[in-house]
Amino acid sequence: MDSIQWLQVFITTALKGSVDLPTTCVIDDIAVAAKALCDGLLVAFPTETVYGLGADATNPFAIGKLFEAKGRPSDNPLIVHLSDLNCLPLAASRITPYAAQLLEAYSPGPITVVVKKNPRISDLATAGLDTVGIRIPRCEQTRDLLRLCDRPIAAPSANRSGRPSCTTWQSVLEDMDSRIDYVLKGAVCEIGIESSVVDCTGEYPVVLRPGATTLEQLQQVVPSTVDWHQKFGERGIELDDSVLPSPGLKHSHYQPRAEVRLVRSLSEIAQSVPVVCSKIAFAGMVDQDISMDSESREFVLFRRYESINQYAREFYEFLREADRRGAEVICLQVVPNAPLGAALFDRQRRAAGIPDSDSTNWRQKT
Ligand code: TXA
Ligand code: MG
Repeated sequence: MDSIQWLQVFITTALKGSVDLPTTCVIDDIAVAAKALCDGLLVAFPTETVYGLGADATNPFAIGKLFEAKGRPSDNPLIVHLSDLNCLPLAASRITPYAAQLLEAYSPGPITVVVKKNPRISDLATAGLDTVGIRIPRCEQTRDLLRLCDRPIAAPSANRSGRPSCTTWQSVLEDMDSRIDYVLKGAVCEIGIESSVVDCTGEYPVVLRPGATTLEQLQQVVPSTVDWHQKFGERGIELDDSVLPSPGLKHSHYQPRAEVRLVRSLSEIAQSVPVVCSKIAFAGMVDQDISMDSESREFVLFRRYESINQYAREFYEFLREADRRGAEVICLQVVPNAPLGAALFDRQRRAAGIPDSDSTNWRQKT
């Protein structure tokens, strides 16, 4: 165990003896939320992507509580949120010129740039790395909150670790009631899947997690930008933990309780789900085939979306609703690689437990 993990264990053990969190309060006053964050408490808040679970990024005790509340592995670093570009020095110590260009072009918005960290950011928040992911959200309510806090706020997605992210405050409560202090009530998240995480510490930008700012958009500003999966897939390099550039990539993510299968069409359900399984949930696009062979199946949840944007916006809530309705199998129709398609596919395959090493193969088959 390294020193960061020891510190994590120490804080967690200390907290277990001393903290007994009361029921989580749902609030709509950002001043109350900001004061709580500055006092070292845990506050979930909306962003345009998904709800985040906030804690003061400079306070190791608050960060220790955050890891504990989420059940998050201590080696998975957190993203630090700022209210605007002028605050960058609060979290970063050095910024490459192309990182500045990407931030100028797409912030505030769904992009996280990984740069060298300011030592004020707790080492627990960055899992001992000397880099930090920085994001300036577009959601006005979030930015007002961050402005009032006047300090960097670490915020991973506000779900229990491994579960689908939350795009409504009600889903945050479902996962986090009695584990955190406050949930700041806001609207349903406008985009519905997380920011793109772009490593900006090397010679050129590398997309570690595809997100709502697409590879094409990034390449318009910095043409040398590459996608990490494509880079490794094309070179035929075996993906294992030793080559992962982001510790988060090795953990399971976005998984509902039901088993998830990826299908290309609705008719494929007949082949891939046994007839004995009666509780199926399905999500797909309206313009895809709707024939379902002769076998008729009962669906506990059946959703077809007009656009990839709508599919992405409602994706996590669909997975959660399928669980609430007791689905045994969730069938997700994979989407074309159109804008946002790559990001949505990434979440679909992780929900289905398909490893990084298989992602390029799967993509080529679709
Ligand atoms: O849209 C979003 O990004 C949301 C909202 C709340 O802002 N946040 C979010 O955080 O998705 P989280 O913790 O669920 O995902 C952050 C990802 C993880 O995969 C983590 O490993 C990676 O970013 N990450 C964070 N800091 C990193 C760093 N210094 N180097 C490499 N990867 C990093
Ligand atoms: Mg997450």
